[in-house]
Amino acid sequence: MKILFLNGPNLNLLGQRETGVYGKTTLAQIENEVRKQATAVGAEVEFRQTNTEGELVTWIQQAPEAWDVVVLNAAAYTHTSIALRDAIAAIKLPVIEIHLSNIHAREHFRHKSLIAAVCQGQISGFGFHSYTLALTAALNVNALLK
Ligand code: DQA
Repeated sequence: MKILFLNGPNLNLLGQRETGVYGKTTLAQIENEVRKQATAVGAEVEFRQTNTEGELVTWIQQAPEAWDVVVLNAAAYTHTSIALRDAIAAIKLPVIEIHLSNIHAREHFRHKSLIAAVCQGQISGFGFHSYTLALTAALNVNALLK
């Protein structure tokens, strides 16, 4: 199983950014933990981060060439990007939406996810554990689709 973790804008600042909301764990530390758990079950993972919407769109479009599942923390683009939604809808791979914070318990403008309806499901509010929970979801998603 090959799982691609895509991270959107400002997630490169995890560990120093609004730590009361997002915690003190860096994206590199999250990646290490996810990689450790994935390796233990024979899964392959790759982590990417970009601050650019179009790069996320391109990565989603290309994902079916090499990956089985995409885990996506689209960060602020979750709430704004029809282009991301269309890219997810255009591919046949399952995409799992994740957030460190509980977007439904925050400002009103974060309650709406433009990508939720085209994703397999959403994990939101478990801090860095959202990523390890997403790994578990990704490892099991194919069974759901059969
Ligand atoms: C986030 C939630 C978004 O609303 C926010 O713009 C982010 C991070 C999260 O992981 O909690 O940048 O996706």
